[in-house]
Amino acid sequence: MAHSLISLLLLSFLLLFASFPQSQSNQFCDAGIGNHESTCGISPSSSSSKLLIKGGTVVNAHQQEIADVYVEDGVIVAVKPTIKVGDDVTLLDATGKYVMPGGIDPHTHLAMEFMGTETIDDFFSGQAAALAGGTTMHIDFVIPVNGSLVAGFEAYERKAKKSCMDYGFHMAITKWDESVSREMEIMVKEKGINSFKFFMAYKGSLMINDELLLQGLKRCKSLGALAMVHAENGDAVFEGQKRMIELGITGPEGHALSRPAVLEGEATARAIRLARFVNTPLYIVHVMSIDAMEEISKARKSGQKVIGEPVVSGLVLDDSGLWDPDFITAAKYVMSPPIRESGHDKALQAALSTGVLQLVGTDHCVFNSTQKALGIDDFRKIPNGVNGIEERMHLVWDTMVESGQISVTDYVRITSTECARIFNLYPRKGAILTGSDADIIIFNPNSSFEISASSHHSRTDTNVFDGRKGKGKVEVTIVGGRVVWQDDELKVVPGSGKYIEMPPFSYLFNGIDKSDAKYLSSLRAPVRRFNSAS
Ligand code: URP
Ligand code: ZN
Ligand code: ZN
Repeated sequence: MAHSLISLLLLSFLLLFASFPQSQSNQFCDAGIGNHESTCGISPSSSSSKLLIKGGTVVNAHQQEIADVYVEDGVIVAVKPTIKVGDDVTLLDATGKYVMPGGIDPHTHLAMEFMGTETIDDFFSGQAAALAGGTTMHIDFVIPVNGSLVAGFEAYERKAKKSCMDYGFHMAITKWDESVSREMEIMVKEKGINSFKFFMAYKGSLMINDELLLQGLKRCKSLGALAMVHAENGDAVFEGQKRMIELGITGPEGHALSRPAVLEGEATARAIRLARFVNTPLYIVHVMSIDAMEEISKARKSGQKVIGEPVVSGLVLDDSGLWDPDFITAAKYVMSPPIRESGHDKALQAALSTGVLQLVGTDHCVFNSTQKALGIDDFRKIPNGVNGIEERMHLVWDTMVESGQISVTDYVRITSTECARIFNLYPRKGAILTGSDADIIIFNPNSSFEISASSHHSRTDTNVFDGRKGKGKVEVTIVGGRVVWQDDELKVVPGSGKYIEMPPFSYLFNGIDKSDAKYLSSLRAPVRRFNSAS
């Protein structure tokens, strides 16, 4: 009730806000969600368009150096030792801290209609949470409306109007005909989408078959768009679910038991082979198991262009929560592919540290306890999804850097730069370089973080990482040159986020034409035959 009232107030504010040009507005708004009161107000001090970050260790994926970073009008203007500026510049002291590109989350679902309900974080609350955790851009998945990509895109444009940070879109492909094929071209050439996701699971809703996947892979290749797959064998999952129900297993543990890792491995292998057959790059989203990771490893060793994206839940959790006797506690861990038994998490971490997997997403897709309770009598009805957009940067730091598995430059690569490269945004995003967007975090490695459902910024009332503590803390988040997170306070502007168009033909397409030509010349066909019988 309180939440709906706050949402209503927020909506009225947004409608009011929408009539002002962004540059004239200096209205800031606390997230006003989760456990926070809405405190929209005027904050002229935060509106300086000039910032100097002094004395920090500036970290890019390729190097780190002690330097100052000067920002004007949302763009990094200079990165060098000892920059001198005038009085009109806001100073931020970063001595002893890391100055890094804001995180880019390649995989989120904000305001997504799914499994009979809608994810509870929208483009404002989800992004506010992201900013509090040091993520400054995300890429969300547009779901077509009645199979129409254009209608889906327009619906997501409306959902994203309240954005307070930059975002891009992938597009799901859920059916196939001439109009889908035509609309894919419109998405790439006119709408700035350069990736399409194919769901090999969710039978009866989003799932596609191999024939569609093949058509989709071919079309992606011709458009220079990256094909992405949710890799689980949906037909076998359907069988597994029936088996569990027949055994009387109706609770959340049935979710994990019905879709074992072998089904993820099978679909990953199949998608990889089909992409090899078509000769187009492939991106496997939410890699949750050793089985899937090993298929990716094999393909990459053979020279195939396959990207593997683990998500933070798969990297740091195991499936034990699904056996919790309390339904809501167990249901909060339900996502697909499922969080696996202990051992998969460590193997995924190792794969990330050795380059078998390339970047970390979240698959942030949250439902509150009431929504999760839709499946109280049947795990098949529990809306699938967990949180992570606010926690990713801290948990990856603690799990990967503090444990000594990766360096600080690698951290920047897997949380930001590699995503920018894959989706063709680098070096505008994913770097602290002259000319890059001023999406920056100041990270204190000597501080600490603690995660709690009662203090997080997401609208959901549970958190799969509840109670986790660790080293390191995002102390300041700067988005588009504005300080939005400092001293544990969030000041975000609805409508200030921009849609970022992503051009096709990223680096992953380099050389595809040459390998196609090599393949054609290797065929030694058609053979010119004479008919010996005549
Ligand atoms: O459980 C999940 N992963 N929910 C979001 C939809 C998807 O499959 O990415
Ligand atoms: Zn998925
Ligand atoms: Zn997802």
